[in-house]
Amino acid sequence: MVEQFQAPKGTHDILPPESYRWVKLVASFAQVMNRAGYGLVQSPMFEDVGVFQRLGEGTEVVRKEMYDFYDKGDRHLALRPEGTASVVRAFNQYQPTTPWKVWYVTPCFRYEEPQAGRFRQHHQVGAEAVGSADPDLDVEVIATQHDFYQSLGLSSLSLRLNSMGSADDRRTYTEHLAGWLNQRLDDLDEADRLNVAAHPLRVLDSKRERTVQATADVPCITDFLCADAAEHFSRVQAGLQALGVAYEVDTRLVRGLDYYTYSTWEFAAGGLSSAQNAVGGGGRYDGLAESLGGKRVSGVGFGAGIERILLAADAESALEDASANLDVFVVDITGGDVGRDITFELRRHGISADRAFGGRSMKAQMKVADRSGARLALLVGPDEHAQGMVTLRYLRSEAAQISLSRVGLAQQLVAVLAQN
Ligand code: HAM
Repeated sequence: MVEQFQAPKGTHDILPPESYRWVKLVASFAQVMNRAGYGLVQSPMFEDVGVFQRLGEGTEVVRKEMYDFYDKGDRHLALRPEGTASVVRAFNQYQPTTPWKVWYVTPCFRYEEPQAGRFRQHHQVGAEAVGSADPDLDVEVIATQHDFYQSLGLSSLSLRLNSMGSADDRRTYTEHLAGWLNQRLDDLDEADRLNVAAHPLRVLDSKRERTVQATADVPCITDFLCADAAEHFSRVQAGLQALGVAYEVDTRLVRGLDYYTYSTWEFAAGGLSSAQNAVGGGGRYDGLAESLGGKRVSGVGFGAGIERILLAADAESALEDASANLDVFVVDITGGDVGRDITFELRRHGISADRAFGGRSMKAQMKVADRSGARLALLVGPDEHAQGMVTLRYLRSEAAQISLSRVGLAQQLVAVLAQN
């Protein structure tokens, strides 16, 4: 028996008709980002492992989930676990004018335990604005992310916002938090105790009931902000209010990556359980460019999981109309020459058209036409062929069929399609 292979654990194939929704989602994203002056960046899927190690030792993707490997030249490389590090590496390499505003769509690889909405290869659309610390850029990025979700018809999303302060604020708070947690070690869930010494911020992320209760009155990062960070945070909030983007400040939102300073945020979908409801998150990162050997510049951006967004869309019955949007299906039972030629004639006039292959019967071809979702079928039988005509049948309405001349067929169809 020859082994039949399956997609690897934690990965999935994206096939039609599901892939029509992907195309629509990515097209909407490109449109929203281009409109805001962001250009596409396409970077290598793998980098020197050091690029991703700079995401920080407290980050799960670095500690446990990296897909790293040695290539045949003994270089230590890793598949990208997220999009920001590559963008910042490229920023350092090319030194573009600032702010450098870019977007991307990319697979991301994390050796996670697969579950609903959590994959080893997931896909993100994302954006970064690098080279400016202006809080209005945080506002722009967050509001554009918000508008992207709106463009898909998602309406049950909520936005949580926090500030991690400057790098110094973050450090001071983390030390204070570690001390505070150490005094309550026995009250925490056992699984969270290990994190207190090395990664105290992670404890705030914990969803374990015992830990949540024990940390109900944990000190807030927002009480540790320096004047500059406090002002930055209030300008970001004022901007979101001015643009009508609803949010809630959540001082426990620390997010999973270590590079964040100043703003952090996450959008969650109402209809999904908390393990899989994060449809996108982002923040500002002050130290990343420098830690990758570049100048000391700040950046801000977000990543949004495509699979998660589609789950949220399912829960809200959004994005349902994405399909091949085929205009015409050509059915030729006279041997195939006419079908072949008409199909291309229509396509070359901008009409989407498909046809059956394999010289099948009228009945079999009509079945394929019905399944295709096309609006119209064009039938060519021996009689029509002899008279230089085709029969137009409406597949999604009760309208009576009509005969059209083969001469100028595409122009006639353009007019028919415009009416329906
Ligand atoms: P992240 O929160 O790790 O941030 O991932 C962004 C989004 O990717 C999540 O909100 C979620 O929708 C999706 N996601 C993450 N992991 C998985 C997974 N295993 N399976 C399915 N979906 C997943 C980042 O990656 C940062 N680079 C975002 C950013 C950009 N911050 C600043 N700029």
